[in-house]
Amino acid sequence: MTTAFDPIDLAGTRLANRIAMAPMTRNRAAAPGMVPTDAMAAYYAQRASGGLLISEGIQPSAIGQGYAYTPGLHSADQVAGWRKVTDAVHAAGGRIFAQIMHSGRIGHPSLQADGQVPVAPSAIAAPGQTFTYEGPKDLVVPRELTEAEINDTIADYSSAARNAIDAGFDGVEIHGANGYLIHQFLATGSNQRTDAWGGSVDNRIRFAVEVATAVTDAIGAHRTGLRVSPTNTFNGIAEEGTEATYRALIDAIAPLGLAYLHVCEAGPIRDISTDLRKRFDGAFILNPYTPDRPTGLDELSLIEDGTADILAYGIAFLANPDLPARLAAGGPFNEADPSTFYGGDERGFTDYPALG
Ligand SMILES: Cc1cc2nc3c(=O)[nH]c(=O)nc-3n(C[C@H](O)[C@H](O)[C@H](O)COP(=O)(O)O)c2cc1C
Repeated sequence: MTTAFDPIDLAGTRLANRIAMAPMTRNRAAAPGMVPTDAMAAYYAQRASGGLLISEGIQPSAIGQGYAYTPGLHSADQVAGWRKVTDAVHAAGGRIFAQIMHSGRIGHPSLQADGQVPVAPSAIAAPGQTFTYEGPKDLVVPRELTEAEINDTIADYSSAARNAIDAGFDGVEIHGANGYLIHQFLATGSNQRTDAWGGSVDNRIRFAVEVATAVTDAIGAHRTGLRVSPTNTFNGIAEEGTEATYRALIDAIAPLGLAYLHVCEAGPIRDISTDLRKRFDGAFILNPYTPDRPTGLDELSLIEDGTADILAYGIAFLANPDLPARLAAGGPFNEADPSTFYGGDERGFTDYPALG
């Protein structure tokens, strides 16, 4: 029987086990350049016993930044900063993919050096606030991308992917989940375009498919994964025809031969996850739905029963740098402190203790 502690070959990248760290934004990059820091290198290296670390969401362009102090992958300084992170992870025996996250309408002019309004498929604001340098601020009505700008944005994803490889990442994960730009294109509520990028299922999936194609052209399918979160309403997402949309998306990207599909379950949607997995040849990473608690010990059985190839752990990995060893031992586990999730110093970042 395969267990979560067995190795796996991820399209040529050997992972020591099937326990991945889920992508988690930690808002600790250095301003004004949004450059990864030595503390970030220490944080990821502490967690290198995970078979695969997926980085926090990283903006592929300045306008793709949705929150204060999130790192980028579009400047030479950022690439140099990430090089320290990837070197530290590799020296500790780990593997790390960069999550490329353009936040689209989740953003604020005050996060932009030139005060630009965030961009999105359509000029429809999401409800709620984002975290800026001056504290929480209401989300604004975004500016609708022109077709030329959509093509430039796709090119930003592929250039960030190239930068990720230059910075030493083992691959990239395209963030298509949780209400950010790609999800905004997929969802009918946020995408009301009447051109080739909106309306029909084929048009709404076009942006995701074009991004995946551009990234695989840039760095190879064996180094590219995609994360999606069907039915997730986070960030004001309203989907109609969820199953048809995600089926069409996965069918359209299947020929690219991506290294993995990563489903983040925001609800009891296992039937959808399983259906998508069947349509896809690469590895299947599951971040399972666990109401009212983070992914934990109970979910190890999802590898044993073949539901997933790799399990993604978020909060448990944030609070337990040696999570695989703790899972193998059946615990104990450190308690996570949500007050230090987003921003701040080393407290709640690099000071969670390992066992022993
Ligand atoms: C502090 C924090 C930051 C997160 N940032 C991201 C992110 O940047 N990208 C992403 O795809 N998901 C992000 N997530 C969602 C997690 O990847 C994961 O789906 C979620 O925590 C549920 O998994 P868990 O129960 O194992 O924690 C974040 C979650 C947390 C707690």
